[in-house]
Amino acid sequence: MKKRIAILLGDGIGPEVMQGAVRVLQAISDCFQHDFIFEQGLIGGAAIDECGNPLPDTTLDLCSKSDAILLGAVGGPKWDSTTHTIRPEQGLLRIRKELGLFANLRPVNAYQPLIHASTLKKEVIEHVDLLIVRELTGGLYFGKPSERRGVNKDLAIDTLVYNVKEIERVVDKAFQLARKRRKKLTSVDKANVLESSRMWREVVNRVSANYPDVQVEHMLVDSASMQLIYRPEQFDVIVTENLFGDILSDEASMITGSLGMLPSASLRSDMVGLYEPVHGSAPDIAGKNLANPLGMILSVALMLKFSFGLEKEANIIEESVMKVLTDGFHTGDLNVQQGTQVSTTEMVNKIIDSINENQATSG
Ligand code: NAD
Ligand code: IPM
Ligand code: MN
Repeated sequence: MKKRIAILLGDGIGPEVMQGAVRVLQAISDCFQHDFIFEQGLIGGAAIDECGNPLPDTTLDLCSKSDAILLGAVGGPKWDSTTHTIRPEQGLLRIRKELGLFANLRPVNAYQPLIHASTLKKEVIEHVDLLIVRELTGGLYFGKPSERRGVNKDLAIDTLVYNVKEIERVVDKAFQLARKRRKKLTSVDKANVLESSRMWREVVNRVSANYPDVQVEHMLVDSASMQLIYRPEQFDVIVTENLFGDILSDEASMITGSLGMLPSASLRSDMVGLYEPVHGSAPDIAGKNLANPLGMILSVALMLKFSFGLEKEANIIEESVMKVLTDGFHTGDLNVQQGTQVSTTEMVNKIIDSINENQATSG
């Protein structure tokens, strides 16, 4: 299979984890005779430094012509001053918006070898298998006005706005996904306060008529954030507004033991997608070969599955991650008492060895 993949490294640990992703894809293409063509584009702080724009047109063109996009992470202290009007994060928000990637899938599983790495108790997390579907191109991130006003710029405004269509399409996607899983959908909102949430609830109830086999519940976001660490195994699919989904997914990452473990897929209806780990550019560990590459590598597996339909290849990556963790190898972000701590590149080498072994025994 021939596929063009846009590679956006970004900032901080972005390039470090991306190197792992590309090497894993090369191993997969060697095993299965695929032709993956990698083309790099600038985004984030690196793009600001190079051309003053966090998402240059050349990058957007490249992404529009690609079959899928892989992204590391953007941002960092260099571009962080609150007075900066051009920020790395704007590049990320714009690419999501321009490409119409409205559904952000963030799966969260408890990995048995990491059960004791979590700050949560074994019995609370051991059966967790949930999926957060975060609306990604609307809500509080994109509402207008969003600005500073007043003579002394002493008034700041952000706006939470949704139209019915924006809610319908992401809710419909979440129902479809729930139907293929354990058939339970939890819609998370703040309908006791926000008008947009009350409309969100109406839409969920209306769309649910098309999915009588899926059990639906509504949960307020404050309570949901509590339930997520109280009894996380109760959740199957969670669907929610952009900012709520951002916050809840970082919280949920602690079920795995590290934010570095979580992958994500940002999709539109035709399944062209952007794949990136949930974590950020981790400036505190950047450039030290310490970053956990597994969130990025598991994002590659999501790309193979969702955008290219390569289930077998995706499964081999996921099995290799499990095998390497079971063998006791982990990066320093995971608080594992036994086993061997490895660097980013050593972890990638282990995953590639496991992919090759898997193929040698099955092929
Ligand atoms: P962060 O996710 O970068 O880091 C939070 C903590 O988790 C840090 O201690 C970090 O070392 C650790 N961590 C994150 N990923 C890790 C990994 N793969 N391996 C090991 N440890 C990991 O969040 P932050 O520090 O709040 O933000 C830093 C910058 O990243 C900011 O500029 C922010 O805007 C940006 N950011 C970007 C994205 C993205 O590009 N998708 C996502 C979140 C944050
Ligand atoms: C994420 C990040 C981004 C977001 C930032 C960097 C704009 O936190 O992908 O989760 O809030 O969407
Ligand atoms: Mn986030």
